[in-house]
Amino acid sequence: MVPVVIDWDALKLAAVTAAENSYAPYSKLHVGAAALTASGDIVTGVNVENASYGLTFCAEVSLVGALVTQGSGRPIAVMVTDGDGNPLTPCGRCRQVLIEMGGPELAINETHTAAELLPDAFLPDDLPGAD
Ligand code: THU
Repeated sequence: MVPVVIDWDALKLAAVTAAENSYAPYSKLHVGAAALTASGDIVTGVNVENASYGLTFCAEVSLVGALVTQGSGRPIAVMVTDGDGNPLTPCGRCRQVLIEMGGPELAINETHTAAELLPDAFLPDDLPGAD
């Protein structure tokens, strides 16, 4: 079942609430990401930093990990915010990670689709053996 209406306020609240659990002792940028799935569930993720900096993973990566781990299915909308609820645009790596899960039509931050943020993306179709 695909929800007809995307409740962006609920998604934003979920992202801000999740951001409270973010582990960001270095940048101090606490990021929360929330996804609405095709079955109507909301799943969240946060950024997790590391003293080696380069091993930090973004909130969107945590989110996709949670979606897959929980068997939640594909996201149809994603909201990413800082700890104050300000929208944050996904970084380049996260755009690739999100479009893999949600496809080109995935709605991001109420303003864009994944395809708009990552035009001409490399997608599963580009691999000969993909399911
Ligand atoms: N960050 C995210 O969580 N998502 C993004 O799309 C961009 C950046 C995090 C990573 C790091 O913990 C902090 O924001 C500063 O870059």
